[in-house]
Amino acid sequence: MDKYNLNFRLENIFFKRCDFREIPSVIYVNRETLPENYSRYTFLSIWRLFKDYFWVAIDDTIDDVIGYIMNKIDKGRPLLCEDEHYIKKGHIFSLGVLAKYRRRGIASALFAISTKKMIDDGIKEVFLEVRVSNMPAITLYKGFKMKIVGEIPNYYADGENAYIMAAKKSDLIDKVTNIFEFLQNNHKIK
Ligand SMILES: CC(C)(COP(=O)(O)OP(=O)(O)OC[C@H]1O[C@@H](n2cnc3c(N)ncnc32)[C@H](O)[C@@H]1OP(=O)(O)O)[C@@H](O)C(=O)NCCC(=O)NCCS
Repeated sequence: MDKYNLNFRLENIFFKRCDFREIPSVIYVNRETLPENYSRYTFLSIWRLFKDYFWVAIDDTIDDVIGYIMNKIDKGRPLLCEDEHYIKKGHIFSLGVLAKYRRRGIASALFAISTKKMIDDGIKEVFLEVRVSNMPAITLYKGFKMKIVGEIPNYYADGENAYIMAAKKSDLIDKVTNIFEFLQNNHKIK
């Protein structure tokens, strides 16, 4: 991990695909961590369509979800790959880690695992929307070489703007693979 200067502290934490029965815990973490609180139907429909990219972090001392990421695959015009007209893109849709578990590498692990799965399934770019004031998340994504490629005025219900951040697969793949292999070698992926 030295190559990326990453500080994983994952004692008692492991990562797994979200199970249907874990959706209520994911909704709890979402409500605790983000103002964007989607309906149960939204969580369920993303789970049903994109369950390979919907991952949770579990604290095994409480046997419960303490972080999650849910992603979608979109098809359409590229944000960065200028040579292409129509590509598969990984959309990081929602990510949250409970406050007491932060700065231990859990979001980085969730991002790396789910992005690795999307890369394996043929995406060429990853993109997301993030509040312009969300410095922790923007710093996290910049660490994966994601760049700000646009800004959407009044994107959020309270009127805040969103940055669109994106990266090509070739920008991300090295760090994502490195973290994925580290987690696998340390038996953190169930
Ligand atoms: C953003 C969030 C998911 C990060 O989760 P996390 O598990 O703490 O992230 P990591 O431990 O993997 O952090 C990786 C890197 O991101 C950056 N980072 C994360 N939190 C940061 C903070 N509060 N301040 C500055 N940099 C931060 C750092 O570079 C960090 O590496 P370091 O700890 O070695 O310095 C978490 O703060 C959260 O749930 N916030 C509320 C929900 C949210 O904003 N979700 C994203 C919506 S787009």
